[in-house]
Amino acid sequence: AYDTAVTSLSVAYWFTPSDVLETGITVIHTNPANEPPDLPAGYHFRPPFGWMNDPNGFGRFGGRPHLFYQHYSHGRIWNNMHWGHAVSSDYLRWRHLPVFLFPSEELTVRPDKRGGAFSGSAIARTDGPGIRVFFTEKIADRIPEQEIQLTATSTDLFSAGAAEVFLPRRPDGEGLTFDFRDPYVFRGPDGLWKMLLGSQSDTGGVVLLYETEDNTAASGWVYVGKLYTETRYETSALECPCLLPMDGDYRDPATRWALIYGLMNGEDKETGRRNLTMIDIGWFDGRSFAKSFGRELDFGTDNYAFQAFVDGNTPVGIGWLGNWADTGPTVDFPSAMTLPRTLVLEGDTLLTPPIGAAESLRARMLDRTRLASGQRIELPNGAAEITFELSEAGGAFRLEFDHPEIRLAIAQHEEGLEILHGYLDRPEEPPGPRYLAKAAGARRLRVFLDYGSLEIFADGGRVAGTKRIAGFEAVRAARLVAEPGVVVNATVWSLRL
Ligand code: FRU
Repeated sequence: AYDTAVTSLSVAYWFTPSDVLETGITVIHTNPANEPPDLPAGYHFRPPFGWMNDPNGFGRFGGRPHLFYQHYSHGRIWNNMHWGHAVSSDYLRWRHLPVFLFPSEELTVRPDKRGGAFSGSAIARTDGPGIRVFFTEKIADRIPEQEIQLTATSTDLFSAGAAEVFLPRRPDGEGLTFDFRDPYVFRGPDGLWKMLLGSQSDTGGVVLLYETEDNTAASGWVYVGKLYTETRYETSALECPCLLPMDGDYRDPATRWALIYGLMNGEDKETGRRNLTMIDIGWFDGRSFAKSFGRELDFGTDNYAFQAFVDGNTPVGIGWLGNWADTGPTVDFPSAMTLPRTLVLEGDTLLTPPIGAAESLRARMLDRTRLASGQRIELPNGAAEITFELSEAGGAFRLEFDHPEIRLAIAQHEEGLEILHGYLDRPEEPPGPRYLAKAAGARRLRVFLDYGSLEIFADGGRVAGTKRIAGFEAVRAARLVAEPGVVVNATVWSLRL
C-alpha cells in the first residue's frame, strides 16, 4: 500500500509540484502489516511510514526549510536507503513530500547486497533554479569501492533528476579503509566549493576535505587532505561531518566555524556512552581547521548525524533522535528527529537551545508553581514542556517521573546533570551507560517530553541531553526530591501536536 501511495504521489501529477509545496498532500497512514496502527502523534518530526535515521540536505530552498532524511519505508528497520523529504515554514510543522532519492537499481535486483542512497547534503544550484544534492551510494559487496559519491539536481524541489557519479574512489596513500561517505558541500572563505567526507584511516576516524571551483562538474573535485583526525576516542569512521560559519561572514578570517562529526563506535570510557556527536569551534581558512574549543553536542546521546546550515544569520541544525548503539525496539517505537536547535556562540561558550519558534508549540500553561522537596507536578499525557528555575545555581535535585515501566529521573548533583534510566521490574539489570553531562550546576532547565523522547536544555543550551524513552503518554506526574532549601519554580505547558 505504501509503494502505491508513494509512487502515485511521485508520478501522478494531478497535483503540480508547486501545488504540493504550497498546500501539501495529506499522506494517509496506510498501516502496512509491520506498522502498529496506534502510535500516538508527537510534535517531533517523524516519517510517514517506516524507518528514518540521519537528516540530509537540510537547508532553506525556495524560501522554505527542507528536510531530507535516510528512509526505509517498508518497515521499522534499517534497510536499503532512500531519501525521504519534507518541507516546512517554521521547522516544526512539516509536510511530507514524495521520496526524493531511491537506491540504485542494482539493489532492487539484489536487495541482499544492502546499501542505497546514503547521507549527504544539498545546496542551492549555481547553474539554474532548484537544488543540487550530493550523497553517497553504498553497495555492500562492490569491492573495493563500496562507497562512491553521486550528485543530482532538482529544478522543482520535488523530484530528483538522474544521479551522476562525481567521486568514484577514495584518495590513495592516506591509509583509508572502506568508509568514505556523507558528502557535505558548502562555500569556503576563499570562494571555492568545499566538501567534507567522513572516513576511517589506520590512525583513527578522519574528516577529509575536497575542493572545486565548479560544483556542477563531475571531474572538478580535488582532494586537499585530512581536515581532522580523531585522537581522543577510539572510533571506526567519523560520520556525517559538517562545517559552518558561526558568528560572521564566511569570507571573514575572524569568523569562527563549527565542525560537527559523529564518532562511529567511539566510546566514552567513563560513562559507557557510544557514538557521541562532537562539535568543535575554531577557524577555517579554506584548507585547515584550527580548533579553539569543543564539546559534546548532546549527552543523551540520542542526537546523531546532526546537520546544520546558516539560515540568514542563524546557524540551525537538527539530529536523528537515535543512536546506533540502541536503535531498538523499532517496532513499537517511532523514528524521529530531535527538536531543531540554533547554535549560538557567547564568547567561548557554545549554546544549543531549541529554535525560538519552539515556544509556539506551547498550547496551554497547565501549572506554575513553587516546588519544594517531596512535592509533585501533574503532567499531561505525552507532549509537554516543563521549565525549572532553581533558587540557587547548581542546587542538587532529582525530578522523578511516574513512568509505568521504567525508573526515570533527571538529576543535578555534584558530578553534573544526568538522565537516570532503569527498569522497575529488573532492578538487578546491570547498569547501562550513564547519561551524564559533566558540567557546572545549572540554574534554568527546559525539559521537553514527547511520545518517545526526553530533551533537556540547561541554561539556554549550555548543556543539552536527548534520550529516546518510550511510554511518556502514560506519565501523569513527576516528583521533586531536593536538598533542603532548594526551591524550584516549575511551569508546565501542554504542547501542540
Ligand atoms: C550515520 C550513517 C551514515 C550513513 C547512513 C546510512 O548514521 O551511518 O554514515 O550515510 O547512516 O543510513
